[in-house]
Amino acid sequence: MNRIRIAVLVSGGGTNLQALIDAQAAGLLHSGELRLVISNRPDAYALTRAERAGLEALTIRLADCGGQEGFETALTEALRARGIELIVLAGFMNILSARFIGQYPKRIINIHPSLIPSFCGKGFYGLKVHEAALRYGVKVTGATVHYVNEIPDGGQIILQEPVRVLPGDTPERLQRRVMEQAEWRILPEAAELVSAEILKDKERIK
Ligand code: GRF
Repeated sequence: MNRIRIAVLVSGGGTNLQALIDAQAAGLLHSGELRLVISNRPDAYALTRAERAGLEALTIRLADCGGQEGFETALTEALRARGIELIVLAGFMNILSARFIGQYPKRIINIHPSLIPSFCGKGFYGLKVHEAALRYGVKVTGATVHYVNEIPDGGQIILQEPVRVLPGDTPERLQRRVMEQAEWRILPEAAELVSAEILKDKERIK
């Protein structure tokens, strides 16, 4: 059976990439196939995870491309050359332009570590999200997988999973719990859902 060719864009530790790799190995991600990992940072541990899993891994640095426009041109070329049909942003710390995003309507998904519309949008990334949740005093937070459009964290929601905030939580403890109880589960699930959806669309067009 045909599978949707997936690229995962990363910048850091890559635990969400690992969750996708594990889901594929377990047969939970079967409508799509991980084909390429791209990092904008050469030191991202996610690259090591990709290589260990036998996936093609590339680094494209903004500084080597003369800025965002050149970076996105290089990105587009790498994706097109491999016939990538779905892009998963998994801890990718670069805001893609509306022009780039416009080329992939409903073909880019992102994982965000809060229940959107709380603690999201410009400036809410990494630990800052969990710091803000603790500062506000919410008792439940979680993670969201959404389509990417031109509004940061503003695209249609695909899946959400709630996680309890516990007494004594630090941003680091909360971040870890949100990953374990939400992110690592819903990202592979959403990648499968969206891949199956794209496959169905392709069948309809045939
Ligand atoms: C995750 O918390 C994700 O939600 C956010 O960045 C973090 C990436 O972690 N967008 P990792 O690189 O997948 O370990």
